Amino acid sequence: MERLPDLKLASLRRLKADLIVVPCFEGEPPEKGRLPAALASVVARLAARDGWRGEPKQIAEAAAGGGTAVRLIGIGKRRELDARTLRLAIAAAVEGGRRAGAASLALVVPQHPRTAGEAGAELVAREALLAAYRFERFRSERKPRAPRQIQLLPAPAEEAAYRRALDTAAVVAAAAAFVRDLDNTPPNEATPEWMAEQAARLARRHRMRVTTLGPRELRRRGMGGVMAVGGGSANPPRLVRLEWGRQGPAVALVGKGVTFDTGGISIKPAQGMEEMTYDKSGACTVLGVMRAAAELELPVRLRGYLPLAENMPSGAAYRPGDILRCYNGKTVEITNTDAEGRLILADALAWAAEEKPEALIEYSTLTGACVVALGVTGAGLFTPDDDLAAGLLAAAEASGERLWRLPLWSEFNEEMKGEHADLRNSAGRWGGASTAAAFLSNFVGGVKRWAHLDIAGPAYVGADSKGPKGATGYGVATTIAWLRQARQPKTQRAR
Ligand code: BES
Ligand code: MN
Ligand code: ZN
Repeated sequence: MERLPDLKLASLRRLKADLIVVPCFEGEPPEKGRLPAALASVVARLAARDGWRGEPKQIAEAAAGGGTAVRLIGIGKRRELDARTLRLAIAAAVEGGRRAGAASLALVVPQHPRTAGEAGAELVAREALLAAYRFERFRSERKPRAPRQIQLLPAPAEEAAYRRALDTAAVVAAAAAFVRDLDNTPPNEATPEWMAEQAARLARRHRMRVTTLGPRELRRRGMGGVMAVGGGSANPPRLVRLEWGRQGPAVALVGKGVTFDTGGISIKPAQGMEEMTYDKSGACTVLGVMRAAAELELPVRLRGYLPLAENMPSGAAYRPGDILRCYNGKTVEITNTDAEGRLILADALAWAAEEKPEALIEYSTLTGACVVALGVTGAGLFTPDDDLAAGLLAAAEASGERLWRLPLWSEFNEEMKGEHADLRNSAGRWGGASTAAAFLSNFVGGVKRWAHLDIAGPAYVGADSKGPKGATGYGVATTIAWLRQARQPKTQRAR
């Protein structure tokens, strides 16, 4: 596990750090009031420099004596700051500390509604920690190290909120880092068996109940989706069920765990195929949420379901034209073996639904179409339940994760009907994210409060995106925020 730095609130009287970062809004004087006089005067001098405006990414730096450097960073106009630009600013501050080789970093938290209150504090603290994350397990030589200690300097009025938020933020950040570690593990190591072992390890550490189904058990139970997709690989499939918590509403979490997606017989082009190592992101997210919920002791009864399979072409692989039967008895005609995620999810969703949870949330890197629609930063939300949609969208907004609702119209269900079987697993080009979601809707049984999050875009930063590449841990913060308000009765829930 890659280590995250220590995070604490700065003590003003004895502020000591290798690098002190002061974010500054464009066209405003820097917030130096919180700093000791000697440092404040350095900040004032920097801001008075010719050409200083506070534009995004602008930097001005000076030594302040005693081995401390003070750095102003521009964060653009106050009214343009949203959760995302705030996250980027924090990441830039921490990255600057790494480049400068600073072992300790202090960050003046800009005063803004986005950074205020416990939600703001959690976001700032979590991002500061996660900005230091790098996946370096396979490097012989580590790149410059991130600061090992980060101190936050919130406005005095916000100090209490920051003090309260720090522990929660550290738990959620550690859970997201855990998701990144798992998801970044390459597919030669992270096989379905390996993923099931990681789930079992998590279960041991947090007193969760765990059940792992292997090929024999999967076949015996009629889990034809997982069996078909996993059939072409030398690394046999698994289906893991985890259970944590004894009180509160029962919530089922399902996550797509394709440890590598070649497309199978309907093979993908070579270009970019290596990114399909992240096709297990949904399963990793579920493990991260369960870990954080257990550590925070949230009053919910969580069940996690991880269908794990490797989608490979081989003599044993499933084919276009095959008809298979899923756990709930529905039959599916295969029209494209690259539409494999929905097949393994079909079995897992049906199992989860059989246990009648009060809500069911599923995460999957399901379609390229969703990335075409929303870009790489946002996930698609599909649910027939307006109340659940409102809750999840509010949780995402508060967490600084982009989530956007997309439709589940009945015409999409028409598209997914099979020629000779109940369903087909792929339809035409149009509305690909929605037709995939419509397919899944056949497997949620009597559960009305279900949601599918297509995280194909934001689950990882790919080659054609900016910033450090790799898994993001998307969805952990949003889900934890949602679980924390979901425990209250419906009428009390904030809208
Ligand atoms: N894992 C992919 C979806 C994906 C694409 C994730 C890009 C991340 C980035 C999924 O299994 C897939 O191949 N989907 C197909 C569905 C199609 C065959 C109906 C797709 O999106 O092209
Ligand atoms: Mn695929
Ligand atoms: Zn896939």
